[in-house]
Amino acid sequence: MTKKFKNKIENKLKESEERYRRLFESAHDGILILDSDTGQITDVNPFLINLLGYSKGEFLDKKLWEVGAFRNMKAAKDVFKILQKDGYVRYEDLPLETKDGKSIAVEFVSNSYMAGGTLVIQCNIQDITERKKIDLIKESKRLLEEEKLRVESISDAAHELRTPLAIMKGNVDLAMHHRGKSPKSALKAVDNEIKHLSNVLSDLSLITSKAWELKNRIVYKKINLRSLITSVVTRSKVLAFNKNISISSVKIPNITILGDKEYLEKMLINLIKNSIIYGNKNGRTVINVKQSERFIIINVIDDGIGISEEDLPHVFERFYRADKCYRSNGNSIGLGLAIVKWVAEIHSGTVSAESKGEGKGSIFSVSLPIKTANK
Ligand SMILES: Nc1ncnc2c1ncn2[C@@H]1O[C@H](COP(=O)(O)OP(=O)(O)OP(=O)(O)O)[C@@H](O)[C@H]1O
Ligand SMILES: [Mg+2]
Repeated sequence: MTKKFKNKIENKLKESEERYRRLFESAHDGILILDSDTGQITDVNPFLINLLGYSKGEFLDKKLWEVGAFRNMKAAKDVFKILQKDGYVRYEDLPLETKDGKSIAVEFVSNSYMAGGTLVIQCNIQDITERKKIDLIKESKRLLEEEKLRVESISDAAHELRTPLAIMKGNVDLAMHHRGKSPKSALKAVDNEIKHLSNVLSDLSLITSKAWELKNRIVYKKINLRSLITSVVTRSKVLAFNKNISISSVKIPNITILGDKEYLEKMLINLIKNSIIYGNKNGRTVINVKQSERFIIINVIDDGIGISEEDLPHVFERFYRADKCYRSNGNSIGLGLAIVKWVAEIHSGTVSAESKGEGKGSIFSVSLPIKTANK
């Protein structure tokens, strides 16, 4: 080997060593170099010194498990044994303690390799405290979201309990005061509502279910649209008695649709109930159906207090109440239309509200695709 060639090799080696040193010094991961025979630390980079708070002198020539930070690392001795045997070890989440007693989580990856004829062990130590915090935040957000859904389900279920109870109370009141209803027909209506009530109670199991499980509870069956609307109108009439609001259905096509009868009834009864609560005395609620090639549109039209332009875009939001005059005597919580929207959407439909303004009545329209109806 010529002297020139030897020098060249030496220079290259020096260059590569310098490059490695720079990387070692500036790395944003902790790096430890161990002697593979004795397990003694032969080098430590500034990042790890900073991270753990021990001086370089407190690392050098010590065995891994003799340094305070690793003392509690039960596996430290085993790590070394595994490394000697397999040449590789990795711990995703290892707790270490800094010199001032702070606990930090690290990822610990260790490899062994030959350097200058001797086997060395390099340990890379990455601080994952931030990563863990983000994971924790993500997990908390997920749990919160789940909890929110659960609370919303409870609210919906509680809301649904109130409708049959109100109808029962109306029937009992009418029968007690001998107004328009015989005790027998009042009892029949009450009996009918008890059935609805028990259905609602079975919905209470929704409390523990998530949104997608809720979807799976929908039971699609063939339903005659005319009898569905007639039955809902009959059920609602008792609610309209005190205000002397007439409820009628017109132009209901005698068609079969595919849907969940229980939920579609809930949807319609919520719309009719609103038309009564926010309706004027001696007013009128009309339910009609328009049929196009692809959709059926069920309209619930009232001549009540109407909805202002500002409130209109928000009425389907949960807990939104535009009713500043408390027409519902404090009985409303603003969930009815959110349920209406949910039921329409679960049937691949949409819902919309129109009003010419305050005092000018409202129209609520549910549009259901015929595709669904013809399945
Ligand atoms: N037919 C209507 N005419 C006028 N305002 C209406 C009508 N329907 C709904 N609203 C307004 O929209 C708001 C939201 O209605 P929604 O049915 O969701 O809740 P709510 O009736 O207040 O309470 P509940 O949960 O008992 O139904 C109501 O508070 C009311 O201000
Ligand atoms: Mg309502």
